[in-house]
Amino acid sequence: MAEIFRIEFPDDLRHAVFKAAELLRRGELVAVPTETVYGLAANAWDEEAVLRIFAAKERPASNPLIVHVASREMALQCVSNWPEDAELLARQFWPGPLTIVLPKSSRIPDAVTAGGNTVGIRWPSHPFMQALIQECGFPLAAPSANSSNELSPTQAEHVIKSLGERIPLVIDAGPSAVGIESTVIEVTASGFHLLRPGSITSKAIEKTLGKEQRDSKKISNGPAKSPGQLARHYSPQACLVLRTWKNETELTRIIDESGVNPRLIHLVCHEKVPHSNSLGRIALIPADAEAYARALYSELHRCDETGAKLIIVEDLPATPEWEGVRDRLTRAAHQR
Ligand code: TXA
Ligand code: MG
Repeated sequence: MAEIFRIEFPDDLRHAVFKAAELLRRGELVAVPTETVYGLAANAWDEEAVLRIFAAKERPASNPLIVHVASREMALQCVSNWPEDAELLARQFWPGPLTIVLPKSSRIPDAVTAGGNTVGIRWPSHPFMQALIQECGFPLAAPSANSSNELSPTQAEHVIKSLGERIPLVIDAGPSAVGIESTVIEVTASGFHLLRPGSITSKAIEKTLGKEQRDSKKISNGPAKSPGQLARHYSPQACLVLRTWKNETELTRIIDESGVNPRLIHLVCHEKVPHSNSLGRIALIPADAEAYARALYSELHRCDETGAKLIIVEDLPATPEWEGVRDRLTRAAHQR
């Protein structure tokens, strides 16, 4: 079973960095807090260590990993080309929840990129991650710290439940600040393309680069661009649907039509909070995109833990600041 090391006081941070770096230098895995979700880290230069990530998560070898850096120099060691657009994005959004996909350097092992010739790079803002990468002196390959096909973890307890028996150390720094995975964007000489929406919106990226996204239909090259977009990702065990209701009567109809015992139905709402006390659980998340993202995965984890069969999520506003959570929920809803 994994050792759990909690960061509560400033001294703990140094101790945690020391413990984690020691394992990572030996090619071991460590579950680490980041500002988005918890990650499962390994030395990105060490192919054997990277392969341990795939084994622990049972992740298909075809799904590439994000490489985490803590300086511009380190980012440059990972790529073979650093276009002006990457520089603009890095200046604006790093450290932070943005992953930039670029042509990889020869130093990046093939396992990291699933054999492809691009690599996703991110400079996380979490103080522990920054300190850890600096201490290690090498970049960290890290997917979300969950078994493949499970929800991403936003608390150390989620990691322990999913991977606790497969890894030696989990660093617990409390709930993740952002709560959904980073925005992933591919940058090429001919423009940029959003591969995974996140808390940094496509509008903010367009503003920084002073141009619009390339039409996705024009993209032709290479294998699957971001397998996380295709596979069964980001979904709880329970069936999830997105619905709107004007009032209690409409909601009752939705519940009746589902054919599921109301006690096994959990509701996640942000605006229309019903009175109904026949449901298994009613979770209210504030109608603020940032706070919603922070709370969402914890609520979905709780639905699964407390035996939900059906999760009805109140549909979200169609405005830009919601694109990250909309993406995750729409994907989860389309799974079945
Ligand atoms: O916020 C995050 O990004 C978290 C934390 C730990 O940094 N990491 C994360 O990693 O969500 P993961 O592996 O769960 O999701 C990475 C996504 C996948 O959809 C993967 O396919 C895509 O990024 N990706 C990684 N490298 C890529 C590449 N070279 N080209 C296209 N997509 C890539
Ligand atoms: Mg993941």
